[in-house]
Amino acid sequence: MSDTPSTSTRYTLPAILFHWTSFALIVFVGALGLAFDLFPRGGRMFWINIHAIAGLAILAIAFMRIAWRRRHAPPAYPAETPELTKRLSHPVHMLLYALMIVLPVIGFIAFVWHARVFDFGLFKVDLGVASDKLVFGPAEKIHALLAYGLFGLASLHGLAALWHRFARKDGLMERMWPG
Ligand code: HEM
Ligand code: HEM
Repeated sequence: MSDTPSTSTRYTLPAILFHWTSFALIVFVGALGLAFDLFPRGGRMFWINIHAIAGLAILAIAFMRIAWRRRHAPPAYPAETPELTKRLSHPVHMLLYALMIVLPVIGFIAFVWHARVFDFGLFKVDLGVASDKLVFGPAEKIHALLAYGLFGLASLHGLAALWHRFARKDGLMERMWPG
C-alpha cells in the first residue's frame, strides 16, 4: 500500500465512493446475516442466497479498492491530529481491509461446502461440491466470529470518526465525506 501522504487534504471521490458503498453493503449483508433465524424456514434459502451474492459484491469491491489504494496514498493528516490517532488508524484500516477479504472468502467456503447453489435470477451457479459438515460447520462458526469482529472494529472506527467530527472538530471526518 502506498502510504507516502498525498498533497491533498481530503480523500478523492473514488476513495469516498469505495468507502461508503462498502459500508452500505456491509450494513445490508451483516443485518441479513443476523436476521436469518427470524425468517420462516421456507424463505430462509432465498435470503441466504441474497446475502451470499451481495457478500461477493463486497469481496469484488474490496479487491478493486485495494488495487486502487495501492497506487493512491491517503491525504496527509491535519496538523492538529493527535499522535494516538496517527498510530492507531493505519493498523485498524489494514485490519478492516483484511476482514473485507477474509470474511466473504470463509462465507463462500461455508456456502459452497453446504452444497448450496448461487441463484442470480437469470442463471444459477452450482459448483457441484458435495455437502461436508466437517468443512461447512467450522467455516460457519469462523465466518460468524469474523463478522462480529468486523462489526466491533468498524463500530469503534466509526465512533472514533464521530468523536473527531463532534468533540475535536478537527476536520478528520470531513476528509471522507462527499462534497
Ligand atoms: C462482508 C461480507 C459478509 C458479512 C458481514 C457476513 C455476515 C454474516 C453474519 C453476521 C452471519 C450470521 C452469523 C451467525 O450469527 O450465525 C452470516 C452467516 C452466513 N454467511 Fe455471511 N457475511 C458476509 C459474506 C458472506 C458471503 C460472501 C457468503 C457466501 C458466498 C456468506 C455466507 C454465509 C453463510 C452460508 C452463513 C450461514 C448461514 C446459515 O446459518 O445457514 N457470507 N454472515
Ligand atoms: C463497515 C464499516 C466500515 C469499514 C469497513 C470502514 C473502512 C475504512 C477503511 C479501510 C478506511 C481507510 C481508508 C484508507 O486510507 O485506505 C476508512 C477510513 C475512514 N472511515 Fe471508515 N469504515 C467503515 C465505517 C465508517 C463509519 C461508520 C464512519 C463514520 C461515522 C467512517 C469514517 C471514516 C473516516 C472519517 C475515514 C478517514 C480516516 C482518515 O482520515 O484517516 N467509516 N474506513
